[in-house]
Amino acid sequence: MDRIVVEGMRRLSGDVAVSGSKNSTLALMAAALLADGRTVLQNVPRLRDTDAMLEILRALGARADWVEGDQRKVVIDGSSVSKPEAPYELVRKMRASFLVLGPLLARCGIARVSEPGGCAIGVRPIDQHLKGLQALGGKVRQDHGVVEALAPEGLKGDRVAFDVSTVNGTQNVMMAAVLARGETVIENAAREPEVTELAHFLLKMGADIRGAGSDRIVIQGVDSLRGVQHRVAGDRIEAGTLLIAGAITGGDVRVTGIDTSTLESTLEKLGEVGIELDVGSTWVRARAPERLQAIQAVTAPFPGFPTDMQAQLMALVCVAQGSSLVTETVFENRFMHVPEFKRMGADIALSGRTAHVRGVPKLMGAPVMATDLRASAGLILAALRAEGETVVSRVYHIDRGYERIEEKLEHLGGSIRREG
Ligand code: EPU
Repeated sequence: MDRIVVEGMRRLSGDVAVSGSKNSTLALMAAALLADGRTVLQNVPRLRDTDAMLEILRALGARADWVEGDQRKVVIDGSSVSKPEAPYELVRKMRASFLVLGPLLARCGIARVSEPGGCAIGVRPIDQHLKGLQALGGKVRQDHGVVEALAPEGLKGDRVAFDVSTVNGTQNVMMAAVLARGETVIENAAREPEVTELAHFLLKMGADIRGAGSDRIVIQGVDSLRGVQHRVAGDRIEAGTLLIAGAITGGDVRVTGIDTSTLESTLEKLGEVGIELDVGSTWVRARAPERLQAIQAVTAPFPGFPTDMQAQLMALVCVAQGSSLVTETVFENRFMHVPEFKRMGADIALSGRTAHVRGVPKLMGAPVMATDLRASAGLILAALRAEGETVVSRVYHIDRGYERIEEKLEHLGGSIRREG
C-alpha cells in the first residue's frame, strides 16, 4: 500500500494551481443523469472519488468516461440508464454516491441505492434526504440496507424544510425537484458554493431555480433537461490546504484558479493567525509571519469556517504561539487526527467538541496513519513542519480528494515522495 514520506522543515514558495472541486464534481456528475443527451465536464479532478462516481454511473447503465487525450474532461450520457440501482459494493466506497438517488427517482420514477452507512467522521444519517424526497411524493422504503424510492406518476413540487443544514441533502432534493411538476420551495437550504454551482449547472441544462446561495431555494419543475458543457470551479478546500502548507513552513505561496469569494471564512482565520494575505479574484498569496498567533475557530455551515478545513487549521495552530481553541460543530467524530498530531509532539487536549491546542515550538516526524481525507491532509501539513521524516500510511484517503498532492508540494519546494 502506498505511503507518503515527508522530510520536514523545508520552506515552501511559489505558485500552485488548484484542481477542480471534488465535491462540486460529484454532484454535477450525478446531475448529468437528468439530461437527455451528453454532458461534458471540464477541469474534473482525477481522484479516487471521481473515478468511483464514474463507475457508479456506468453500473446504472449510463455512458460515463474520461475523454481520451484530455486528462480533465469527462463525458456523461444518462439517456441509456437501464438499471436505477446503485449496489453496496460501489456505494460503500464513497458516501457521495447517494447523490444519484434524487436524479434517478426524477428520471426513472424508481431508484434503489444502498444506504451509505457511517464513516470515520460521524454517523452521517440520510433522514433529511429521504424527508425531502418524500415531501415531493416519493414513496420511500428502507429494507435490508437498501433505500428504495418510487414515484411511478412522477414527483410533485412541495415545501421541504430541512431540520439541519445539509449539503448533499439539499443537492439531492434540488436534483429531484427540477423535473417534478410544479413548485418546490427548499427552506433551510445549504448555502455552500457547491450547491450554488450545481444550481448554475442545472440552469444551463434548462432548469428553473432561484435563490441558490441563500437558505431558500425555489424551483419550478420543467419537462426535460438538456446535456451541457461545464467547467468545474476550483476546489476551495484544496486552496485552503495549500495556503496553509506554505504558511506552516514559514513560506510564501500563491494559490491560483480559485474563486476567492468562496474562501472568506478560511482567509479570515488565516489572517487572525497572522498570515499576510494578498487576495485577487482568482488567486491568493499567503506570506507567513515571524510568529503564528493562537486563535479560536468554530466550524459551521457556509459561510462559516468549513469543517473540511478543521484538521488543516489545527495543524497550523499546533505550532502557533499560545493556546488555540478549535471547535467542531458539523460532524461529531472529526478529531481522528488529534492522536496522530500528538504522536508528532503536538500538545492537544480534547474536551467534547473542542480541541485545546497549546502551540509548541516544533513538531517531530513520526510514522502516522491517515484516517479520513481531511485528517490525512492535516497530517501532511504537520509533517511539512516537523523535524525529520514523517511516513503517512493509508494514503488512499488523501487520493480520494487531492490530486497528486505530493507533486504540488514538491513543486513548491517540499521534500515529499510517494512510496509503493
Ligand atoms: N445530516 C443529518 N441528516 C441528513 C444529512 C446530514 O443529520 O440527512 C447531518 C450530518 O450528520 C452532519 C450535518 O448534517 O452532522 C452536515 O452534513 P451534510 O449533509 O452537509 O454533509 P454531506 O453533504 O454528506 C458534504 C461534503 C463533505 C463536507 C460536508 C459539510 C460532499 C460529497 N461531501 O457532505 O465533504 O464535510 O458536506 O460541508 O459534498 C470532504 O470532502 O472531506 C467531506 C467530508
